[in-house]
This record gives sequence, structure tokens and C-alpha cells, in this order.
Amino acid sequence: MPAAAGKCVYASVKAQDMEEKIKTIIATLDSLVAEGISAFEEVGELAALSALESLYLGKKSVLGGVKKEMSSLDPEERRSVGEKLNAARETLEKKARHKKELLEAAQLKRQIEEDICDITEVNIAGLYGHLHLVSQIRQELEDIFLGLGYEIAEGNEIESDWYNFTALNVDPDHPARTMQDSFYLDTVDGSSILLRTHTSPVQVHLLERGEFPIYAICPGRVYRRDTADPRHLPVFHQIEGLVVDEGIGFADLRGTVEVSMQAIFGSETKTRLRPGYFPFTEPSAEFDITCVICKGQGCRTCGGQGWIELGGCGLVHPNVLAASDVDTGRYSGFAFGFGIDRLAIMRHNIFDIRSLIENDIRFLSQF
Ligand code: DAH
Repeated sequence: MPAAAGKCVYASVKAQDMEEKIKTIIATLDSLVAEGISAFEEVGELAALSALESLYLGKKSVLGGVKKEMSSLDPEERRSVGEKLNAARETLEKKARHKKELLEAAQLKRQIEEDICDITEVNIAGLYGHLHLVSQIRQELEDIFLGLGYEIAEGNEIESDWYNFTALNVDPDHPARTMQDSFYLDTVDGSSILLRTHTSPVQVHLLERGEFPIYAICPGRVYRRDTADPRHLPVFHQIEGLVVDEGIGFADLRGTVEVSMQAIFGSETKTRLRPGYFPFTEPSAEFDITCVICKGQGCRTCGGQGWIELGGCGLVHPNVLAASDVDTGRYSGFAFGFGIDRLAIMRHNIFDIRSLIENDIRFLSQF
């Protein structure tokens, strides 16, 4: 047999082998793609998906193996197998990417659903928040005085010595001015700035405004260096009243105390004024109401007196009017003040004023 023929036969055998091999490779790729597609379709977890990705697309995958075998192919064949290989890889990669998006979206949805906090759940018992007892009474007082034509004035909780004491005719030696009785703030220039000890400084701001007549109340928080006990709190609430107009006299004060107390405590309530002393009023009085518990009969709450002390009042001292340049020849006025927290504990017969600030839901929910 001529050598050339032998060569030729060999060559054709080789060609036949190669064709077979390529066919096998292509068939392998086709079934791999079909198998991969359904595997990617079925997978339900991200972790399992990533395992499938390395199985089908990683270096040690069948695709990786085919790629390695490419070196043994002729350039022509290498090209066609290469194209097929790339197409297979692209198809599988696309399928895996798509599946990954779906699984990630599902995982996010699951997580959002798990994280949902049903805030309506806490209210199965029908619990709703409401205003604190002190705020309720404060609003009630505001309504009463708004009904009488008063304005509600906003004061400052931080005041200077002038507004809290001096302009109110409080003596330089008055004990309230000492560090033991008031909360002073550290100031750079050493000026006397403190947390207001009463709501009376609002009187001074109203007078300074120079607009008359004045019919105003100022409810708000006040501060004193008291240790909390059943009858005292270092932070509490007062309401101040100020009326300045032409021809205002003691009878106007008397009538206002009577009408407003009856509006708060009921029309059967009686009021009385007793002589008292406050630096900012002259004459000054303390005012009492008939005991809310025994209605004046005498009980433990009122110490058998039938009366309970509520606040202070009087005609505005001429020095107070003068300190704010009010024309005292034309205007006169009255003022009053009392504690809102005290009123709350009296009205509801609360034994200890500290209950108001303990935030015990069992206490608060009763009002
Ligand atoms: N500021 C007084 C206090 O804290 C209460 C008071 C008394 C206010 C008499 C007044 C008043 O306006 O006329 O004890």
C-alpha cells in the first residue's frame, strides 16, 4: 500500500474521529444546556443556585472541561466548537442571572413580611393614650377663662431676677431669692438668671407690653428647691391671672374668684378671702374654697374646717405697675395665682402629689 494512500486513509480516519468527537462535544453541550436550564428553573434557594452555578459554569464544570479540550482541535473546528461553547455559556449564565434576581426579590419580600411589626397589635385591649390629669385641668382652666374673655399668655420658664423678683416688688432679702429656695443658672457674666419660681413674672411681661386693658391668664411650669414629698414637688404647675383696666377694684377680684372657682368645682362651691401677704399685691389675700370632699361639712382632708386653701390674690401693688411704667393714675388691677397640681390632688382626693409624676399607667388611666 502506497505510503501516501496510507497517509490518506489515516487522515480520513483522523477526520472521522474528529467529526465524531465534535459531534459528541456538541451533543454534550446541547444536553448540558437543556439539563442546566431545567436545574436553574427548579432551584428554590440562593445557596443552591450558587452551587449550581459552579457546577455548570465554574472552572471544573463540564463547560470548563470542554474549554480545555479545545486545544486539541483544529483551528477551524475550534472556532465552531468555541461558538457553540460560548452560546451555551451565555444561555446558562442568562438563566442563572434571571433566577438569581427572582430568588433575591422573593427573599427580600419574605424578609419584609417577617419584619413587619403590627403596631395595632399592642392595642387589642383598647388602650389609648390621653392627656395627663394636670394637662386636662390646665385645659379646663384655660377654657373657663377664655369664656370670660381672657387671653392666654405664654411666659418664660427661665427668667432674670428682675422679672421673677425685683419688678414684682420682692424685697432684696426675701428668702425666695436665696440659692436654697431657687434654681439659679450659671451665667458667663454672673447675672442672676433662674428657673422661675412662680408664674407671676408673666404679669411683668404683660405690663411691659403697654397694651390695655389686660385680661390674661398664664398657666405653666415653675421650679423650687423643694424635696419631693406627699405635698411638694420641685417642678410643678401654677396658673396666674392678671387684670388691669380702668377702675378695677377689690369687688372685681372677689367676683372673679367666686365665678371661676364655681366653674371649676361646681356651682355649689363657696369661696372666701382671708387677709394675707404677697409683695406684689396690696391688699393681699389668700383664697379658700369649700372642701371638695365634704362640701363644707368638715372632714379629714380639710382638717374639720370645711375650707381648703387654694391660692393667693390681691390688687396689683402700685410699685409693680410703676416698675413697668404703667400710668397708675389711670389703671389699676388685680392678680391671682394657684397651683394646678394641688388643685388636681384636691379634686380627686389624691393622697400623694408625687403620684402625678410617677408615670404609673394604673394611676394615670383612672383620669
Ligand atoms: N406667686 C404666688 C406664689 O407662687 C402666688 C400668687 C399670690 C400669685 C398672689 C398672685 C397673687 O398673682 O396675687 O405663691
